[in-house]
Amino acid sequence: MVKLAPSILAANFAHLEDHVREAISAGADWIHIDVMDGHFVPNITIGPLIVEALRPLSRETGALLDVHLMIEKPERYIADFVKAGADILTVHVETCPHLHRTIQNIKELGAKAGVTLNPSTPLSTLDEILPDIDLALIMSVNPGFGGQKYIPSSTAKISRLRQMLDTIGSKAFLEVDGGVYAGNAAEIVHAGADVLVAGSAVFGGTKSVAENIQALRMAIASASEPIH
Ligand code: DX5
Ligand code: ZN
Repeated sequence: MVKLAPSILAANFAHLEDHVREAISAGADWIHIDVMDGHFVPNITIGPLIVEALRPLSRETGALLDVHLMIEKPERYIADFVKAGADILTVHVETCPHLHRTIQNIKELGAKAGVTLNPSTPLSTLDEILPDIDLALIMSVNPGFGGQKYIPSSTAKISRLRQMLDTIGSKAFLEVDGGVYAGNAAEIVHAGADVLVAGSAVFGGTKSVAENIQALRMAIASASEPIH
């Protein structure tokens, strides 16, 4: 079953726990936490403190904390985020000259290890690391901000990554992040994604979080069987 990972970037931080609880009650599987440093991406967001603040809710409900590190030298902060409660830590290939070491480090500390790449970064950068990872994340917008438009060529990239994972028999999650909404969720799932991140489509707009999640679920259900 396709997992939904609402991004808290679009939530109201003054009511963060309530907002996240609402999303989980409505069927969110994971909570996606976007960490930005003002260097790798232009925006600055949050650090391990927010992960730690959400840990009790995560442990109470079983919703995993899916932490997306858009920061330079992410290896400096891996231990802090795992200690704070991150279940999945995803790093960008563009920030990791020693990607294999970084992935091993995340796994040794007991978290699942994910790798992601910017829209312009080719899938071939994952060739050597693919057998070692628990999650591969396709960025379908340029990282840094919520509420951007899905880049259409991402769909073909998702299909190609699905083929690469299937070819080596990998059970890694294929997650997609950026511009996902009810209008394109079916296309993305059909291409082979099994985890959808959605910020604005869950926490934005005028409808309730529950209604938004239901709309996404219906869109996913309408997708024909994924290729894999
Ligand atoms: C972008 C972040 C995304 C973002 C998604 O840099 O990695 O997780 O919050 O937001 P939406 O769903 O609004 O595009
Ligand atoms: Zn993200």
